Amino acid sequence: MNVSFRLNGEDVTATDVSPTTTLLDWLRETRGLTGTKEGCNEGDCGACSVIVTDDSGARPLNACILFLPQLHGKAIRTVEGISAPDGTLHPVQQAMIDHHGSQCGFCTPGFITTMAANHLNGRTDHDTALAGNLCRCTGYAPIIRAAQAAQDAPVPDHMHDTPLLLAKNIPGEPQAGAEPPSHPTTLDAFADWYAAHPDTTLIAGATDVGLWVTKQMRNLGQTAFLTHVDGLRGVTVGDDTITIGAMTTLSDLHPVMAEHHPAFAELIRRYGSAQVRNAATIGGNVANGSPIGDGPPALIALDATLHLRCGSDTRSLPIADFFIDYGKQDRQKGEFLTHITLLRGADHLRCYKLSKRFDQDISAVCGCFWIEVADGTVKTARLAFGGMAATPKRAHKAEAALTGQPWSHDTVRDAMAALTQDFTPLSDMRASAAYRMEAAQNMLLRAWSEDQGAPTSVLEVRA
Ligand SMILES: Cc1cc2nc3c(=O)[nH]c(=O)nc-3n(C[C@H](O)[C@H](O)[C@H](O)COP(=O)(O)OP(=O)(O)OC[C@H]3O[C@@H](n4cnc5c(N)ncnc54)[C@H](O)[C@@H]3O)c2cc1C
Ligand code: FES
Ligand code: FES
Repeated sequence: MNVSFRLNGEDVTATDVSPTTTLLDWLRETRGLTGTKEGCNEGDCGACSVIVTDDSGARPLNACILFLPQLHGKAIRTVEGISAPDGTLHPVQQAMIDHHGSQCGFCTPGFITTMAANHLNGRTDHDTALAGNLCRCTGYAPIIRAAQAAQDAPVPDHMHDTPLLLAKNIPGEPQAGAEPPSHPTTLDAFADWYAAHPDTTLIAGATDVGLWVTKQMRNLGQTAFLTHVDGLRGVTVGDDTITIGAMTTLSDLHPVMAEHHPAFAELIRRYGSAQVRNAATIGGNVANGSPIGDGPPALIALDATLHLRCGSDTRSLPIADFFIDYGKQDRQKGEFLTHITLLRGADHLRCYKLSKRFDQDISAVCGCFWIEVADGTVKTARLAFGGMAATPKRAHKAEAALTGQPWSHDTVRDAMAALTQDFTPLSDMRASAAYRMEAAQNMLLRAWSEDQGAPTSVLEVRA
């Protein structure tokens, strides 16, 4: 397959590449651009951060779990392209020197590219925006000071990349044959092709699939990339519904949820890192069926509807029914997720993510609750948990203990007890079964306490 993009201002075509070649390997091994570092090779450390620009702007991404076809038509800027063509340092580079932001230097190229992307986008929430870049020796204070020192400097001209091709100008391809189209663009043609080739591995943001290649060394067989398929990306807010395309990234979903369901937005803020959220799609998060994914509990509590397509056939189902068992979802061969809908209206959602690290960590337990109270009585309770069973799952017994009862401490205690009938969690490296159960129960208590106005921030230290 051939893939074309702009690299540090130069138009290039990678010819005859395997679709599962990562950008990191290609940069280092084919182009000799070894400034982009390989640390973890699984999206966790940010040492491989590059800036990718497409129609919707510039963002930092992890090159180690980006496959080349995801970059077709875009522009990439690596650490080698951050200083000006005449060698003048970028403001974030100068600030890192001035503020002693580097010691061994291994993490530094990744910090520089992420900081330069944030500088370009005017982001000043440095703690959140740099949470995906890990440094083992310098310590974060000098790095954050450097980011702050550079934030008001003008953006150098060469940093304003434009994509090689606008998405609408990427040529469609014949999709009738056995070979997967390199860069499928037309939804109808793609749906027909996939229905005829259902054993193909679909790739969205590759934040899961990337690791199958880099960590599990799996051969994915035939692959198809959803990156350019039209109509799958973006959020539409209508009078009654919110429609979320399956290819919408967590970063793009965040501002919409901040407006309509702030608790979900806060959950998204703690989802992976900026680099992961910039690549990961909500469709991939649902379709992979992980019992510890953060999107599904929130979407179950919101009573979301999934919309699937196979060829020209479409169907819809409540998201709670999609998760059948561990690794088994209600998805037929040749069927794929096109979008998710939510009813628009009042907000009664609360979300709690518990992980060993506050930032950039998979949940041990994630609890999302929709609790509607009228005249002091619980009218509706939808309680969904991740990390408590083989799938993301509703707590029907606890819901029954709440529904129709006074919204009181006693009722919440009853619902907490009922959770032991809903779940038999497992012990693993993230948490023991007993800890998971107690944490899930305490999340319910926390929701009630918050509703009573009690301070419940787990980050606030009180004597
Ligand atoms: C460092 C790191 C941190 C992470 N942190 C979190 C976290 O905090 N919370 C969390 O929930 N997850 C986390 N993840 C997991 C991952 O980011 C999510 O599951 C992500 O949403 C997957 O989306 P994707 O677009 O990358 O999917 P991909 O990796 O492209 O695909 C995932 C699966 O879904 C299938 N698929 C994708 N799109 C469709 C579709 N439209 N129709 C049918 N099938 C489809 C693919 O075939 C594949 O089986 C993390 C991952 C990494 C690497
Ligand atoms: S090498 Fe660690 S995120 Fe890519
Ligand atoms: S300077 Fe050594 S890891 Fe950051």
